[in-house]
Amino acid sequence: QKTFTRTVRKGYTVVDNFILPERYHEMKKDINEFEVYDTDLWICGFPKTGTTWISEIAWLILNNFDYEQAKIPDYKRTRMIEFSMLFDIKKEVLFGGEEYEMDSIGHAKSQNHPRTIKSHLPFKLLPQQISGNTVQPKIIYTARNTMDTCISYFHHCKGYEGFTGTFEEFSKLFLFDKVNYGPYYKHVLQFWELRHKPNIFFVTYEEMKNDITGIIQKVAKFLGKTVSKEDVKRLQEHVSFDSMKKNPAVNKEFVNKHIEATTGKKDVIFIREGKSGGYKNVMSQELIAQFCYWTDKRLQGSGLNLL
Ligand code: A3P
Repeated sequence: QKTFTRTVRKGYTVVDNFILPERYHEMKKDINEFEVYDTDLWICGFPKTGTTWISEIAWLILNNFDYEQAKIPDYKRTRMIEFSMLFDIKKEVLFGGEEYEMDSIGHAKSQNHPRTIKSHLPFKLLPQQISGNTVQPKIIYTARNTMDTCISYFHHCKGYEGFTGTFEEFSKLFLFDKVNYGPYYKHVLQFWELRHKPNIFFVTYEEMKNDITGIIQKVAKFLGKTVSKEDVKRLQEHVSFDSMKKNPAVNKEFVNKHIEATTGKKDVIFIREGKSGGYKNVMSQELIAQFCYWTDKRLQGSGLNLL
């Protein structure tokens, strides 16, 4: 049986200046033509910017705090539309007894309405009805400090995607736009430019770390839901770092166990450190200076700060 970690990419391709797995081409038409509803909620963001965290918040608010249903693994409740392109397998695979539906587009289509759908794709590669503005689902987009995103992505790629290089090597790939879904800056800017549209909610990981109560209230308002103080308090506890780390519905435990069983790798963790500014303990002064230089240069004039 093929396994999650062995069936890595065939290779990469460049689409609209973004790096994507070659298998994107097999899905491109179906993604473009995917039927979108005004009632959908789309969770978007570059990998490792806090998409799982905001997704859990938004799903619970949208589903009237149904904590029973929230025990179902998050990928089944909020499917990532392009997931199939990441792996070279078409059939369902078992991860530690968990059935993993590999047809992500079919799965996203079949979600109960209002659907929550996730995507790491840049705005212009989302279904045509979204990128062409003919249907306006609500979209939540997360962004995060560039260096913390890079570190988190390094651990992710090492753990889940077979990357074997050093952090220094990965950081150069990240800085010079050679990682999957990159360039990060271009990804963020596509959504940043749309942030004033009423159907877009742009939020940063740092804002979530600083004031999760406020963000929960803002997400509720954005989704047109009224929430009580008790609702907010309970949700805040449910999505705290420690709770999410322990919660098998969101912590990808079954994937991690599967990786350990098939490869012996023990250090694969999805809800990993959950810090902002963690880069200060990991990066050299020289690397920080390079990130600052490139981040400023790429975001110049946009009004966005990701440092
Ligand atoms: P770290 O690797 O820095 O810990 P995504 O879901 O977009 O892939 O992002 C994953 C990052 O969000 C990881 O960052 C993960 O630990 C962090 N994260 C997930 N849930 C969190 C929470 N409740 N509080 C803080 N950080 C969280």
